[in-house]
Amino acid sequence: MLDLKMSKSFFIYTYGCQMNVHDSEKMLGTLEKAGYAATERPDQADLIIFNTCAIRAKAEQKFFSQLGRTKLLKRKNPHMKIAVAGCVAQESQEEIRKRAPYVDVVLGPQNIHQVRNIFSTPRQIFIEENPGIALQEYEMHRQSLSRAWVSIMYGCNNYCSYCIVPYTRGREISRPSKNILAEIADLKARGYREVTLLGQNVNSYRSDRDFVQLLYKIGLIGLDRVRFVTSHPRDLSPALIQAIDEIPCMCEHLHLPLQSGSNGVLHRMNRRYTYASYREKVFKIRDHIPDIAITTDIIVGFPGESERDYEATIHAVEELRFDGIFGFKYSERKGTRAAALDGQVPENLKTERIQRLLKTQELITLKRNQSLEGSVQEILIEGPSDTDPEMLMGRTRTNKIVNIRNSGEREGTMLTVRIRKGRQHSLDGDVIPG
Ligand code: 5AD
Ligand code: SF4
Repeated sequence: MLDLKMSKSFFIYTYGCQMNVHDSEKMLGTLEKAGYAATERPDQADLIIFNTCAIRAKAEQKFFSQLGRTKLLKRKNPHMKIAVAGCVAQESQEEIRKRAPYVDVVLGPQNIHQVRNIFSTPRQIFIEENPGIALQEYEMHRQSLSRAWVSIMYGCNNYCSYCIVPYTRGREISRPSKNILAEIADLKARGYREVTLLGQNVNSYRSDRDFVQLLYKIGLIGLDRVRFVTSHPRDLSPALIQAIDEIPCMCEHLHLPLQSGSNGVLHRMNRRYTYASYREKVFKIRDHIPDIAITTDIIVGFPGESERDYEATIHAVEELRFDGIFGFKYSERKGTRAAALDGQVPENLKTERIQRLLKTQELITLKRNQSLEGSVQEILIEGPSDTDPEMLMGRTRTNKIVNIRNSGEREGTMLTVRIRKGRQHSLDGDVIPG
């Protein structure tokens, strides 16, 4: 007899940050375990899931326009189910209902384990708070065979005034350390070489251990590389710097969002640090770990950002010489405190400001990459380069992309290279035979 359940297939669109990418790995694994089959063809799927991002209006618009195109598929195949998961699902159920009444299921970030029930229950909305999320274990279908994401905590209590995340992902809650350690030990046993610990604010990890204690425990498992995202500058302690320095697998890379170089703006963003204290921390980290790469996030055009505030940000970027920045134009998010502030900055001024900021950083990134010319680096191979199959792409411990000649090494191979040339977005290297 034909197994009807087996014949159902699904397709997932993923938008947004690493949490979302990893949540999609969880949904994929959960659905496959339940007997459904992933397909590469959305037009042939019985279920299409949108794993959405609400961080800026642009991310949301991208999703809504793809959703509009999918409506046409559903017209041809009325049995197709459409599910909206992720941050937009949590924040904008009403808008989804209004704009897209053909959506069947809404699934917030705390309820992704419910994905297995989509075909079997008439229930359509899963957005309630899930206090059990920290204990939830998932089947996962990971994208990579060598690098893995591992969630250590969920949610966010910071309430930066511009940010929607505390409203979409809920209150901070940490996984028990033994669950995290077991997951990482299993990854190691299966040949994984690198793990990235995930949380909105990993420094506030707190269960039976704190974050630094957790890192020392992870250090004993014997993986080659461990990283984490994201840390909040206010909570970056001397003990954490020491842990990165002392634990051999901890990568020399820190993503430390600054957001603005102006104290007034930082205050209105509710970041709870000053530029001077941020700068102090960066200097201290570089004192201990001179080769560390530091990357950051910057928002321009926050409400009330004056010419002087903006110049303070430019000055910060010039002074701190980050290895890379992610620059964003402020995007008003309904329900956040910043949305109610006076002094919204006009769009064309935001555009001018972001352009000059990115231009300023471009040269700094290039110079930093060039300063690595002649140095010896360990790289972890990810696969053929996107732009040139003759080349292989790998990453340094500092998270920089290195392209080398393709001599057939597989994903997950660790190689030693000498950097020949530093470029804007990558480095060219030559393998040093080992
Ligand atoms: N507008 C623009 N950028 C934002 N970010 C978060 N919220 C907003 C917003 N409303 C940026 C911050 C954060 C990064 C993930 O996205 O810089 O660090
Ligand atoms: Fe990730 Fe934030 Fe976007 Fe949610 S809103 S997907 S937490 S970036």
